[in-house]
Amino acid sequence: MPEINRRSFIGAGAAVSGLGLLAACGRTGSAGSPGGALVTPGDAIVDAVEKERAGTGKERAFTLRAAESELDLGGRTVRTWSFGDALPGEELRVSAGDTLKATLENRLPDPTSIHWHGLALRNDMDGVPPITQKAVKPGGDFTYRFIVDTPGTHWFHPHVGTQIDRGLYAPIIVDDPDEPLAYDEEWVVMLDDWLDGIDGTTPDAVLEEVREGMDHGGGGGHGGHGGGEGGMEGMDGGGPMRMGNTLMGASSDLLGGDAGDIYYPLHLVNGRPADDPRTFKADPGARLRLRLINAGGDTAYRVVLGGHRMTITHTDGYPVEHREVDGVVLGMGERYDVLVTLKDGVFPLVVLAEGKDATALGLVRTGSGEAPGKDVRPDELDGKIVHATELKAAPEVRLEKRGPEAEHTIELTGGMGAYDWALNGRRFDHEDPTKGAFTCEQGQRVRVVFKNSTMMWHPMHLHGHTFQIADGGPRKDTVIVLPGQSVKVDFEADNPGQWLVHCHNIYHGEVGMMGLLAYTA
Ligand code: C2O
Ligand code: CU
Repeated sequence: MPEINRRSFIGAGAAVSGLGLLAACGRTGSAGSPGGALVTPGDAIVDAVEKERAGTGKERAFTLRAAESELDLGGRTVRTWSFGDALPGEELRVSAGDTLKATLENRLPDPTSIHWHGLALRNDMDGVPPITQKAVKPGGDFTYRFIVDTPGTHWFHPHVGTQIDRGLYAPIIVDDPDEPLAYDEEWVVMLDDWLDGIDGTTPDAVLEEVREGMDHGGGGGHGGHGGGEGGMEGMDGGGPMRMGNTLMGASSDLLGGDAGDIYYPLHLVNGRPADDPRTFKADPGARLRLRLINAGGDTAYRVVLGGHRMTITHTDGYPVEHREVDGVVLGMGERYDVLVTLKDGVFPLVVLAEGKDATALGLVRTGSGEAPGKDVRPDELDGKIVHATELKAAPEVRLEKRGPEAEHTIELTGGMGAYDWALNGRRFDHEDPTKGAFTCEQGQRVRVVFKNSTMMWHPMHLHGHTFQIADGGPRKDTVIVLPGQSVKVDFEADNPGQWLVHCHNIYHGEVGMMGLLAYTA
């Protein structure tokens, strides 16, 4: 029997006693019930703000068909849900200022929606049922129409249940009509952890499995999810231990400990596993812009290009002061743009699933030579990797210093043991979403302090805004908050409505690590 990493046992105990502490302290004032009326997504002010957005008036129309499909994942055929029978779905590309018109055709057996991750758009187009719209029924259509006013690397996915952990995702790239970067080639790379349709498993079954909590035996004991992967199964000696689709002891130094809760049989680069990678071809000497997007459900990825250093130019679509590194680490929902000057040969883009003892792979070919195998581990993996908190916003996107006029401390709470992930000790109530909302007023500078009191890292995401990490840090919409760490972020309250703030670990979010930022009227 494999050894279990001690950290996960200690973690479970600490999480339980942490709850007691929380209860004793009570709730922070800022998280109480909102006093005044809230701006609703259908309010006239939402329309008024849209009219002020810098738009060119040019409309770009797309159709997005969400349906059950059979996908080939490198020799394995899985039945899953996707956009346009492709994985990732076909990239949408618009220019800043364009009006995006996207008709979602729901041909799934369940209601769905599309959330435009990273776009600061009008609230009623944010795709969050039941808050900003009704879920689109099976057989129904819904047209999203809004001005896209900022350039960058973004993506879209449903905001219903665990659907994001199926194949329902695709990039949306917003070009800058005055692009300041010079480069020759561009490769959009979506990273994903995959379990849907493998041995009959679905994300819903996995959610039920983890929801039971590790304290109650968790894992395979509850069966019922087609796979019958019961019992315990070690991976490498000393590595993470698996029970059903639950992982224990997945540990990452970069993430400050516990890396993830879920076992995924596959990790994918643009829909392909490491044994059947995609190849990007270019000329030697070309400057390549990599647009990296983590579409995973429960996996952070460390990304390097063997034999190369990379220059970080953007994170979450916004420019940063350029920084040369060996690799980057992306939490779920995060994006990085990096520039690489390609050497002559064939090089592995290695995507390490943090703490999970698994990789995905892509290849960059500029010349002849044999492609590296699936187990290639370039030295860059142990090189210089920086966290977003160490980066600086580019001068043109830095927020000027002022305020804040409103401040909220959002404590990340809960644990693996009871699987009771929450914000400020309160689980999100989908039936009554505005209860306990964090409020602000239009025009305020708002500070949010994400205070992580759990034993695990969380990628915290805010809809409708791009905050700035305090003291000149990068502009982002999703930020990794390490265990025990507090991350301060500031944003302009310039987009009235009701916006989710949540952990982008889909299983954490679904069980309650989610809240609402609401503008008061
Ligand atoms: Cu990728 Cu609530 O979002
Ligand atoms: Cu989380």
